[in-house]
Amino acid sequence: MVQDFFLFDIGDDMTETSVLSTRSILLIISGGIAAYKSLELIRLFRKTGTYVRVILTKGGEQFVTPLSVSALSEHPVYTDLWSLKDESEMGHIRLSREADLIIVAPASANLIAKMANGITDDLASTTLLASNKPIMISPAMNPEMWAKPSTQRNLEILKQDGIHIIAPNVGDMACGETGTGRMPEATELFKAAEDFFLNNQPLAAKTAIVTSGPTYEPIDPVRFIGNRSSGKQGHAIAAELAKQGVNVTLVTGPVSIPAPHGVKTIAIETAEDMKLAVTNALPADIFVGAAAVADWRVETPSVQKMKKRVGQTAPELKFTENPDILATVSTHPNRPSLVIGFAAETEDVLNYARAKLVKKGCDWIVANQVGKDANPVFGADDNQVTLITRTTTENWPSASKTDVAKMLVNKIVEDLKDEQQQLSRSTAK
Ligand code: CTP
Repeated sequence: MVQDFFLFDIGDDMTETSVLSTRSILLIISGGIAAYKSLELIRLFRKTGTYVRVILTKGGEQFVTPLSVSALSEHPVYTDLWSLKDESEMGHIRLSREADLIIVAPASANLIAKMANGITDDLASTTLLASNKPIMISPAMNPEMWAKPSTQRNLEILKQDGIHIIAPNVGDMACGETGTGRMPEATELFKAAEDFFLNNQPLAAKTAIVTSGPTYEPIDPVRFIGNRSSGKQGHAIAAELAKQGVNVTLVTGPVSIPAPHGVKTIAIETAEDMKLAVTNALPADIFVGAAAVADWRVETPSVQKMKKRVGQTAPELKFTENPDILATVSTHPNRPSLVIGFAAETEDVLNYARAKLVKKGCDWIVANQVGKDANPVFGADDNQVTLITRTTTENWPSASKTDVAKMLVNKIVEDLKDEQQQLSRSTAK
């Protein structure tokens, strides 16, 4: 059953970003003295923001306590297949489905044998058989057990089944013998998990900067000029890029939605601050300018709150132009290889959007109609957009902003895989 302990703050804020920051890992700890290293592995995962759920087998429980595991993973730990409470809240099917990767560490000879033969007699083995997700195992056992033909046969079967096996290290064993069977250190397992995503995700080594939300331009210390952008589209794009393993910096104006998981988020207010945050974050491979940046700001905002006095005429505000962030990035010496802008237009959408692409020097424009009679867009959950590149125009069906973000990120994945495409773009500039 779930060991539902009171969870306390382990004082480890997410401090480092990694390809694992946006990932969900299901860690299965089976019986073996090396289980203590898995506690450190959980700590490393949490330090980078990785979401970790843990299953502890009966054997595993002999070496590490459910309390340590739940305190470090900041979640209840799962131990029992037959727990009515667990099965209704988080059954073995859901446990396996929610993970991007399942890691078995340490993987005992017994659990390896069960996996190789499809035996399901506890929560760990049942979840593994029910899983449709990639599985990585870190065998750890006495050198004699490791060398036995039965163990090697089982490992061969697992290899053929597509299971990733992290080879054990050679060295002194807790039992006093020396040989092959030591589980690698937590840092090595962490690296193996990172490498798994880097090798399996085309954008895992890429970096992106996304702008989102409105900008607020001050009139005086309490008043500002802003706009209705909710940040939903920009935030959704940042979240989808992060899910593909991209290291994302999101520069956002004031919004009421939460920062996406696993994304470095920088909150700004004015267009000038947004430009500074964006240029400081360069170089990057991808730039997506989804923010609704104010074109103008009040030239000299009042230092004190402006007062309304009897008989006084309405004040006149003098404006000055804000920097164009998209154009700045497009012409920057560290220009990303793919620069994408947005165009929100009330009329003649495609012509204005194409003109904007040329004027601002970006590669793609995501265009949409805004205004009273069209899809309200600002604040809405759905969006109907047209993707304009230098050579193509694609009308996309109306979809949720999350789905539009997914479609755009799929296009980005295709584009960045196509080196020829990038080459022709860079020579055309
Ligand atoms: N943009 C920007 N910096 C600005 C203004 C706009 O980076 N100062 C970016 C937006 O994030 C968006 C694109 O430029 O990706 C188009 O923004 P939009 O406001 O539609 O274009 P404008 O340049 O303001 O053109 P216009 O007001 O004439 O439509």
